[in-house]
Amino acid sequence: MLPANTLNRQVAIVTGGGTGLGRAMALEYARLGARLVLASRSREHLEPTVAEIQKAGGEALAVPTDVRDPAQVDRMIQETKKKFGGVDILVNNAAGNFICKAEELSPNGWRAVVDIVLNGTFFCTRAAGREMIAQKRGGKILSVLATYAWTGGPGTVHSAAAKAGVLALTRTLAVEWAPYKIRVNAIAPGPVATEGASSKLWGNPEAERKLLSKIPVGRIGTPQEIAHAAAYLVSPYAEYINGEALTMDGGEWLGKGFLAVQ
Ligand code: HXC
Ligand code: NAP
Repeated sequence: MLPANTLNRQVAIVTGGGTGLGRAMALEYARLGARLVLASRSREHLEPTVAEIQKAGGEALAVPTDVRDPAQVDRMIQETKKKFGGVDILVNNAAGNFICKAEELSPNGWRAVVDIVLNGTFFCTRAAGREMIAQKRGGKILSVLATYAWTGGPGTVHSAAAKAGVLALTRTLAVEWAPYKIRVNAIAPGPVATEGASSKLWGNPEAERKLLSKIPVGRIGTPQEIAHAAAYLVSPYAEYINGEALTMDGGEWLGKGFLAVQ
């Protein structure tokens, strides 16, 4: 575990920070001394996590925001500046997803997911990046991918295509913004037990059994494991890591081989 003052008073925005992985990352960042802004559509999702951080002695603000709307994103950055004076860390965690065969996916269904994952990530990154550049004290941007950004993800063509776009965005800006001391990285989780993912993607015992059989370490990941890595990547201990996508999937994307040795 990182020491409690690792993110001492840094200002961190976590999109989708009220639920699942976003909530776990926000709580861990707060434990490490960061001041948090949680941004997603629903205030009901955000307020309980804000209250949890405050109860533990931390500082946090809920800013209801739809990341698909650049005006709302700009407003969220302004509210962050007003409350905490700047932005040091952005975590692009908000996402939408559902399983649908590509040939049955409507244009609106495609747009809904690509808009949240790819366009929303760009709008937040652009707005926070402009602020970081103007502040002249550097910054850290971390986006949450999924391993199917490079393996492909049958049944989730919208999400896989959008996450692949976010991977390209990560590598591009890691170079473009390095002169401003902004580090841009990503985490690519495999299956992690959150209400959002479990209910939408492996919502029955048969689907879960099939999923587990594909993970070499034999289990689904936990939000806390992702949160620890997300904290490390934005911490001073990772100052030389830039443009990286850290895979956290128990070896799932590598497959289990085809020879009868296991
Ligand atoms: C087919 C669907 C659908 C489904 C929605 N649509 N759900 N099509 N199958 N199950 C279509 C709708 O019919 C509509 O198209 C279009 O998508 C937009 O739907 P809305 O409900 O109007 O969209 P909206 O209210 O904006 O909601 C966005 C959403 C929703 C993505 C559809 O699911 C959402 O808000 N999700 C947020 C939470 C979430 O998904 N979390 C999971 C993250 S887990 P038409 O043509 O009818 O107008 C994750 C794991 C990755 O990403 C990897 C795991 C290994
Ligand atoms: P989740 O709890 O459903 O998280 C999604 C979050 O995104 C919610 O808090 C939601 O809040 C927010 N959101 C959705 N649409 C938004 C929008 N238009 N604007 C702003 N916020 C929006 O699921 P999760 O499992 O924690 O997923 C978190 C991240 O991990 C996602 O990027 C996901 O793709 C990635 N991931 C998860 C897994 C997994 O197995 N869990 C695996 C790989 C990658 P509101 O509803 O309040 O807007």
